[in-house]
Amino acid sequence: MPAIFLLGFMCSGKTTLGRALAQRLSVPFTDLDVAIEERSGLTISEIFRTCGESGFRRIEQDTLQEVISENPDGIVALGGGTACQAGAMELLNDSGLTVWLRPNTNRLLRRLIEGKASRPLLQSIDSDEKMLQFAQTKISERAPYYSLSHHDFDSSFLENEEEIEESVTNFINQILKL
Ligand code: S3P
Repeated sequence: MPAIFLLGFMCSGKTTLGRALAQRLSVPFTDLDVAIEERSGLTISEIFRTCGESGFRRIEQDTLQEVISENPDGIVALGGGTACQAGAMELLNDSGLTVWLRPNTNRLLRRLIEGKASRPLLQSIDSDEKMLQFAQTKISERAPYYSLSHHDFDSSFLENEEEIEESVTNFINQILKL
């Protein structure tokens, strides 16, 4: 099976779905943000604080290259901005199967509000309205990249074990056609 790259906006379910898929398929799981933290010895927030977003992007793209050169044969969950850097979508599409995770707006908004503490780009957003505005603007900027993926998948349903299991089954049927 080729590597499967899960991409999409922050809180679209890349890590949750990726881990569960890898478990069901008995293949390895790599989370790019975790790989970045392990290799640098810093958290994502610390990297943003010390190197800025542009420094983070350089480290992110270097780590992506390293992960790809290790020939991953499992599931790789990317960060929300990984696919939107120059040349990244071409590299990903040539290296495996790319899938854009797209939850519905209500569920995405709830997850962004709950998950904002660990995400530097969300930390200063102080109301639900501003969070929605930010997400809509950023997703429309990023959509030209995300939409180059081989497939897209509705990742709205990942709130509990039952939903996760059903989403894994749907992903396997719809995308992998196993
Ligand atoms: C980012 C998404 C984050 C992380 C970093 C930047 C982004 O990953 O890479 O905070 O630019 O969208 P998740 O998508 O896993 O939250």
